Amino acid sequence: MRPADRRTVLGLHRSRHRRDLLTGALDLGVTALDTASNYLGHHSHRTLAAVAGDLLPKFSISTKVGYVEDGHSLDPARLRSAVERAAKNLGREPDTVLLHNPEQSTPDAETLRKACAVLADAAAGGLCGAWGVSTWDPRPLVGLDLPRPDVLMVRCGLLVSSSVLDAGEALVTGWRPAAVWGMSPFGGSPIAPVWEKVDARVFLRAADATPVQAALRVAFALPKVAAVAVGTDDTGHLRELVGATAYEINADVVREYRHLLRQAA
Ligand SMILES: NC(=O)c1ccc[n+]([C@@H]2O[C@H](COP(=O)([O-])OP(=O)(O)OC[C@H]3O[C@@H](n4cnc5c(N)ncnc54)[C@H](OP(=O)(O)O)[C@@H]3O)[C@@H](O)[C@H]2O)c1
Repeated sequence: MRPADRRTVLGLHRSRHRRDLLTGALDLGVTALDTASNYLGHHSHRTLAAVAGDLLPKFSISTKVGYVEDGHSLDPARLRSAVERAAKNLGREPDTVLLHNPEQSTPDAETLRKACAVLADAAAGGLCGAWGVSTWDPRPLVGLDLPRPDVLMVRCGLLVSSSVLDAGEALVTGWRPAAVWGMSPFGGSPIAPVWEKVDARVFLRAADATPVQAALRVAFALPKVAAVAVGTDDTGHLRELVGATAYEINADVVREYRHLLRQAA
């Protein structure tokens, strides 16, 4: 994969949704946003439209449905209205709508299939460009059959356990998504104490990356993903993140790491 094929996506889970961050992202060439109907206290879509409605056509936008005010639901009627509301509140159809953490509702195969059918129908009807599944914990979903999604989004990076990595890869094999995206490459915070003990630069061929850049770059390989949704509210931090995609990974070290992870598990 060439560096240009690795896409850094600005994730809005922890974001204050400020306009200057979005203009800064565009200036840096970051043209993909990832949000969800429940981000910013269920106000993400409306807030984006209010603070940066004129900028939204310049972004590729993925969003997620499944969390509702009273919890989580895979009810087809509620999912359908969530997709319709997303387009209405954003003021434009999202490029991708993902089923958000379906494992939260511990679905059986039929429930998951019906939920996915709602999103596939929405994409076919032009309510969104593509559809897929985003899962924080893919393990309960392994073995459940789906119509082929456009996108599968899974956790990525050095803090993901062996069993979650293996389960995500099992879904890739079983569902054959057209694209695999990663999320949360720092597990929510690159300044958490664990990162003081890990120097991700050992995974890179060059030594001049910052530790944060190295951790993000490794996340593209654990598991193998074409895009990573990473959160920041700081344009300077985003500039650092964008620089990460140019670095080359030492695939032997990644393989050895996976081997050690499996042994430890
Ligand atoms: N189930 C799901 O679908 C799901 C679950 C979780 C996440 N996601 C997606 O993945 C995205 C990212 O996940 P996340 O926000 O949980 O975790 P993350 O990307 O692993 O970490 C985000 C944190 O990293 C910090 N950071 C980023 N760049 C930095 C830098 N250069 N230097 C220092 N700190 C830096 C940010 O703080 P600053 O603001 O200070 O930069 C932010 O608090 C979410 O926004 C969402 O789009 C999806």
